[in-house]
Amino acid sequence: MVMGETSKMPNLRKPAAACSVLSMTALATVLGCGLTVTPAKAEPTVEVLHYWTSGGESKAAGALRQDFEAAGGKWIDAPVAGGGGDAASTVLRSRVLAGDPPNAVQLKGPNIKEWAAQGKLAPLDEVAKAENWDAILPAMIRDVVTYKGHYYAVPVNIHRVNWLWVNPQVMQKAGVAIPKTWDEFNAAAEKLKAAGIVPLAHGGQPWQEAGLFEGIVLGMGGADFYKKALVELDPKALTSDTMVKVFDQLRKMRGYVDEGFAGREWNRAAAMLMNGQAAMQIMGDWEKGELTAAGKVPGKDFVCANLPGQSGYTVNADSFVMFTSANADRGAGQKLLAKLILGKKFQETFNVLKGSIPARQDMARDSFDECAVKSMDDLKAAVDSNSVVPSMAHEMAVPGAVRGAFLDVVTAYFNSGMTSQDAVKRLAEAVDLAK
Ligand code: BGC
Repeated sequence: MVMGETSKMPNLRKPAAACSVLSMTALATVLGCGLTVTPAKAEPTVEVLHYWTSGGESKAAGALRQDFEAAGGKWIDAPVAGGGGDAASTVLRSRVLAGDPPNAVQLKGPNIKEWAAQGKLAPLDEVAKAENWDAILPAMIRDVVTYKGHYYAVPVNIHRVNWLWVNPQVMQKAGVAIPKTWDEFNAAAEKLKAAGIVPLAHGGQPWQEAGLFEGIVLGMGGADFYKKALVELDPKALTSDTMVKVFDQLRKMRGYVDEGFAGREWNRAAAMLMNGQAAMQIMGDWEKGELTAAGKVPGKDFVCANLPGQSGYTVNADSFVMFTSANADRGAGQKLLAKLILGKKFQETFNVLKGSIPARQDMARDSFDECAVKSMDDLKAAVDSNSVVPSMAHEMAVPGAVRGAFLDVVTAYFNSGMTSQDAVKRLAEAVDLAK
């Protein structure tokens, strides 16, 4: 054979005689021998670590997978069951320790900066520039997904956490209205209990108890108090009379949940609301994704209401980070995924299914239901009145160790006879140690 003759190997052209021995491991030598190699086309690939495994969540995650595959990508699914993502965090840490991190990971809040500071994340500036993220993202989201001026995460959505979900038929049966204050809430709960209805659908997991707690902090203390206590970690706010009252209210809530609450996943609690076993649930608006996935209609089968005493908007934005990978297919996959996630089409499809509102701010509202429109309006009003707060329970407010301190004390309180005075003392101590 002469040089230049086409070989049977699809991507290689024949080597000169002196270079005729070809092995994959000797690719560098081969290139040096004048061979031309036509690289195979990259197959954009992502292994996606996420915790979207409930009915509504998996529909939404499925939409992302579909878009990615339709754009020519290969999706390797790595779901970790467990609402709130605590189980997924454990898996992530062990995969990183083993030197094998998945290359796309659902992660949010201060965790993004922590992993970026460790040099583990691939910057997304190239995609961000091409897709104009600076212009389409609101400042509060940009702050979360950037570190030292570089993008390290692609935001998916904005979930609101401080919602009261109500089964209107059940409320009507017990003759109670949607409560606007915590006193009204307690009075309604007593009536519901007397009527044999579980007042509050609840799953006894630390993040869900922290969700109740932070909702009461905002409802009773207002946005400034919330920021002082749960973001700035001011010891005075943590041990204040207001915080004692917050724990008192949490103690009352313990009396409004059913016997089987321990360890229950949030979506099982949502099922209790749907089937009329329970009247109310305090949960972020992934709840709506769950209810609509089961065919329930907002305004008819369920109502999304403000939490009692509400004076703000608790934000929880999902996002994906990309752990660096030397593999070209994986690198291409990360870029494709980041581009698709903030595309207009995906922002609409995904957020309608997920119960959240888009992360980009230039979207039409037509496809969104009344709860999503309320969320959009309330967010705007809260931005104007400086009452947007980051969710502590959902890892948006404080580093992981501090969040852990909150969750430990709140859960210990909820599941014991601890007094509210003891609780605030223990909270301030635990937070101080974790800082
Ligand atoms: C996430 C949501 C998820 C919820 C329940 C939250 O922390 O932000 O996307 O649906 O947990 O799993």
